[in-house]
Amino acid sequence: MSDERSSAPPLHPDTDCQRRTVLRGAAGLVLAWLTPVRASAQVPQGPAPAAGDLLVRVGDTNLVPISAEDVPYDAQGLMVWAVNPQTDAVKNDPMHRIIVARLNPASLSDATRQRAADDIVAFSAICTHNGCEVDVVLGSSQTIFCSCHRTTFDPRESGMVVSGPARRGLPQLPVRITDARVVVAGPFADIPGYGI
Ligand code: FES
Repeated sequence: MSDERSSAPPLHPDTDCQRRTVLRGAAGLVLAWLTPVRASAQVPQGPAPAAGDLLVRVGDTNLVPISAEDVPYDAQGLMVWAVNPQTDAVKNDPMHRIIVARLNPASLSDATRQRAADDIVAFSAICTHNGCEVDVVLGSSQTIFCSCHRTTFDPRESGMVVSGPARRGLPQLPVRITDARVVVAGPFADIPGYGI
């Protein structure tokens, strides 16, 4: 007995295949549209800044610790790494880059002031939105700006987001002054990095 099912040719095979391809493509477009675009998360992998660490300018191969006088007065930040003073190990995981700046101490919130050394504050320099390095210039607004997608952070208010797409503030790093040097006083108040 012949098997008509197996011998019967498919109806319009090319057209049927094209239709399935088009439908799969359309379903993919709908899924892509429904799925929110998110930056992949990145957090530091290397040793974290810790109490007692000194700070050195990014790019300073002589590892000269910065003093309070090295922090600019003209609304400019300073990009630094933490250094273990016992081993001279530079904690230069990209997610551990730090911006140090000088602000009017009277303008600082209580929480910010507790982690500041008089008028000197330190924050993660990595934008929490998508990992760009923040601008080094604070300007007259005394805010920290990320020009990648225009997020503004307020270092007087613990680094909170003022405007822009970032959803998490810049983590503050506690600092103190010892023997005229700027010294790390404790770990970051929150995890540096982005997408978390
Ligand atoms: Fe900073 Fe997007 S990476 S605003």
